[in-house]
Parts: sequence; C-alpha cells; structure tokens
Amino acid sequence: MKQTLKFPDGFLWGAATSSHQVEGGNHNNWSEWELQNAERLAHESEAAFKHNPHWKNFQSETTSPTNYISGIACDHYHRYEEDFDLAQSLGHNAHRFSIEWSRIEPEEGVFNEQAIEHYRRVLLALKARNITPFVTLWHWTHPIWLEAKGGFKSKQFPFYFQRYTQKIVEALGDEVVFWITINEPGVVATHAYWKGFWPPQEKSFFACVSALRILIEAHRQAYATIKKISPHAKVGIATHQVAFQIARPTLYNKFLQRIAHSFWNRWFLNCIARYQDFIGLNFYGRNIIDNGFYKNPNEQQTDLGWEFSPESLYQALVELKPYNKPIYITENGLADASDELRQQFIPLALTAVHQAISDGTDVRGYLYWSLLDNFEWDKGFWPRFGLITIDYQTQKRTPRESAYQYAKICRENALEITSDPEPTPR
Ligand code: FCB
Repeated sequence: MKQTLKFPDGFLWGAATSSHQVEGGNHNNWSEWELQNAERLAHESEAAFKHNPHWKNFQSETTSPTNYISGIACDHYHRYEEDFDLAQSLGHNAHRFSIEWSRIEPEEGVFNEQAIEHYRRVLLALKARNITPFVTLWHWTHPIWLEAKGGFKSKQFPFYFQRYTQKIVEALGDEVVFWITINEPGVVATHAYWKGFWPPQEKSFFACVSALRILIEAHRQAYATIKKISPHAKVGIATHQVAFQIARPTLYNKFLQRIAHSFWNRWFLNCIARYQDFIGLNFYGRNIIDNGFYKNPNEQQTDLGWEFSPESLYQALVELKPYNKPIYITENGLADASDELRQQFIPLALTAVHQAISDGTDVRGYLYWSLLDNFEWDKGFWPRFGLITIDYQTQKRTPRESAYQYAKICRENALEITSDPEPTPR
C-alpha cells in the first residue's frame, strides 16, 4: 500500500558541508596536522579498520598517505557556483556551509577583506538560487596562530571567537538568518583533548572538560554579539546526539544510560539553553549499552563500519522536545560508496522525522550530510558521504541515484512510502 507522508509547509530541505572538508587550499590547524600525520595514519589504517567488513574495498586508499592530506579537496572554493547549481537542480531550498576562520583572520587581528567578500558571493549565489543558508562559524578548523595560543582550550578563545564573529556578522549579517556558532562541541573536544585522535592530540579527560567550558563561554559571547548586530538572526549550535538504548533493563544499564545521556546529549545544551533560538541536530546513530559496553547488533554497517540505524533518529528528535525550540537536522547521513544503503537510509530517516513531527516535535528542516563526497577528517577521502560523488582526479561531480530520490522528496515536500497492509483479522 502506498502512503504519502506530507511535511509541514515551509519545511527546509537540503544538504550540508564544511569549509575544510570541501574548499581546498586551506592553511589551518588541520592542514598542518595532516602533513605531520599522513604517513602514520596510512600505516595504522589496517589495525584501525580491521574489524570493518567493508575495509578491503578501500584498502588501497586507506594505506596511501595522500588519502590523509586535504589538499585541494573538492575545490569547492572555486566551484561553489557549479555545486549550488546542482543543489538547486536537486530541489534543495536550504544549504549549510561553514566559514573558514583561517582565511578570514590569517594573522592575529588582521582580517582579510577579500576572503570576507568571497563568502558574500557564496551567500549571494545561494540567494540567487532561492536557497536559505545556514552558516557555521567554526567547524573545527582555525588559524595556525590561534592553535599556537592553545586553540579552543585557551582561555582567550572566547575573546578571539567573539571578535571574529563580530567581524563576520557585521559584514554578512544582512544575508543570513541562521547562524551556527559551533559544530559538535562534544565531538571535537573529546577527539582533540581526551581520546587524542585529532589535533592537538591530548589525552586528558580534564583537558576535554575544560575545553568544553571554554566553548560554552565562546558560544554565549558569540550569541550575544550576533543578536546585537542582527536582531532578526536565529542562533544555535549543531549538537551531536546519540540515541542511547539499553540491551537489558538492569539497574546498572539504566544508570549508565542516564550518565551517557546526561553527559553527551544534555550537558552542553543545558549550559547554553538560554542562548539559543533553535537546536541544530547532527545525528549518526544509536548506542546500545550493556554492562559498560556497546552491544549494537550491527546487522548492516556503513562503509565506515557504523551501524545502519536510520530509524533511531526518532528517539533523538523526541528527546529534544523539552527544550521547546525549533529543531533543524543539520547533519544526518552515511558513508556508502555503493549508494545502495543510502537509498534505503534517506526514506527511513525521513519516516522517523515525520513520525517525530506527528508526535509533536517541532522539526523544521533536514540537511543531509553531505552535498558532496569530501575530506572526512582523520579518515581522509575514502569515506563517501555525498549525494553527489566526486572524481578526485578530474573534480567531476555526478549526482548519485539517492540524490535524485531525495530531490523528489524535496520538491514535493512529501515522502511516498510503501507500507505493508495491516494483517487482516481472522
Ligand atoms: C560529523 C561532522 C562532519 C562530518 C560527519 C561525518 O561529526 O560534523 O564534519 O565529518 O560527522
């Protein structure tokens, strides 16, 4: 039986990117780190991915150091018009991108007006195509001079971030409603300062917590600055949420679930609750807790070995209801070079979104991650997240089949699903 799931009028549809992952030619804390770590990452890739059932398909890429150097990436810095033409042709009416701080303030206190003008052109290119921008101010990359001062663990970070924010919003605020100050504070703080995977590779829980405190302060100051310059603006963060579930209802599991949920999903959001106009939700899956370990069935896995569980988006959405703020899904997607899983993923994830809306959750937009295949941080280029695939030899863009399926949903503001007929009562 066919069923049409209608989305609310004015629902925003599109995809997301971030500067360092697509632009190319950046010189920042990450590009430096890549040069120093590419050999090591290539060398360690077998050990890192040996549990991944798909790894063999990507072995030659993951073992090559060039995979780990962002270089010209998707050359989106020069090809944004072409990329936005594609987004428009695919029915998108919203797009999330980030501004590259290291281009704007390459030296401390020295602002590059041409770089700012570049982003004005980007905004005008979106406007010309009737695409609403969501602008992220900091998607993890920043100038080298700032990293030298201690990056986002430095007490001075909120001051510098506020000054950069002010500069950008004064210059571009007339073209932007939706600002995202910080992308996934929890992910970047744990990876950079606790697990030690990402620059500057510290391994201290206390360093991680103090970095999070700095980011809370940075967000609050940036929030006030944006609202002062641009009272019409809507400001939020993009928070990475996990749907924590339990394998068995033991007291211990329930306790762990509560701790994980409070620390990962709630703490930062609670600290900025009075300083946000919407919640940006980045969602990549659930974790099933059992006695201190994760025990997900992992029946199907994406290329990165992450569990395929698009439906769990429902839980993450309804858990955000108590904040009483509009929710925009600012990232949701998967690495899938074959595109087969993606074609299942998008309708299932959107069915979950529709269900959450029907159950009273105020969801107003969906931005798939990502518009393009791109540079996936310490994993490099091999994970393919794009609606549009990129041939990195030629920079040729080709929309995948899932992109056309998603386009139909975007255009119709509705999703057609085939549901099994109710079993006939005997
Ligand atoms: C998110 C990041 C984004 C991308 C996706 C796969 O955590 O915000 O930049 O790397 O994961």
